[in-house]
Amino acid sequence: MNRFTDRIVMITGAASGIGRATAQRFAAEGARVAISDMNAEGLEGTLALLDGSGHHSMTLDVSDPAACRAAVSTVVAQFGRLDVLCNVAGIAFLKHLADVSESDWHRMIGVNLSGTFFLCQAAMPHLLESKGNIVNIASTAGLGGQAYNAAYCASKGGVLLLTKALAVEFAARGVRVNAVCPGGVKTPLAAGIRMPEGADPTLVSKLFPLIDSADPSEIAAAVAYLASDEARFITGEGLTIDGGQTAS
Ligand SMILES: NC(=O)c1ccc[n+]([C@@H]2O[C@H](COP(=O)([O-])OP(=O)(O)OC[C@H]3O[C@@H](n4cnc5c(N)ncnc54)[C@H](O)[C@@H]3O)[C@@H](O)[C@H]2O)c1
Repeated sequence: MNRFTDRIVMITGAASGIGRATAQRFAAEGARVAISDMNAEGLEGTLALLDGSGHHSMTLDVSDPAACRAAVSTVVAQFGRLDVLCNVAGIAFLKHLADVSESDWHRMIGVNLSGTFFLCQAAMPHLLESKGNIVNIASTAGLGGQAYNAAYCASKGGVLLLTKALAVEFAARGVRVNAVCPGGVKTPLAAGIRMPEGADPTLVSKLFPLIDSADPSEIAAAVAYLASDEARFITGEGLTIDGGQTAS
């Protein structure tokens, strides 16, 4: 498939996991991608994996609103347009409520929710010009409450409703805004998550997929579908991809 020939796709969190796989998928389908992440070394690794040429790579801390605005300006200055924004950068931890510090909370909301908001805001004028679209990465944690995960759930629930609010506001002006809600994807983020000491196993028994965890490329495939013209009639959707985790 070559659904993104000559399209410009900006992807955050592209140094690793789902973001890297998303960059690979878009590049494989003909896009020129503008990849960003805090992890410069990981970005270099992603760049080396991409099909095609003319891609752009930049370091970006999405929790800095001014840096988000500057990053979008850089992409538009470099390529002259923006067709798709994918907000993938994210962090996660599990903690008892009492152990979530002020800085834990602000970091979680700053990266996962505020970063997504400020990039959507900065990108929107350019997406209105290109009749482009946004795909945000929410989570099954944005669909229902999870023990020891209050800050992450709040951030991802916020991403999902931010997605829907923007979809409503901009549908008639030709910009679609969607999200995917993954659960159980084999990435460094998932591998690094530990249950807090003293966690009640009965409260977390439904946090796992019913089948083998997903490869990041399986999430990237859904992101690419939502961003493609094949999904013209889909906006305001949070597509759950979780191996049945939330089915019951
Ligand atoms: N892995 C899963 O099971 C799973 C499930 C649901 C949702 N998600 C979401 O998918 C997204 C990607 O996560 P992943 O699993 O691929 O993890 P990952 O750790 O492999 O990738 C996350 C990337 O985000 C980058 N990042 C973190 N903070 C940043 C910041 N402030 N600015 C810019 N980049 C930053 C990291 O450097 C990393 O490269 C996240 O939003 C995560 O919440 C993951």
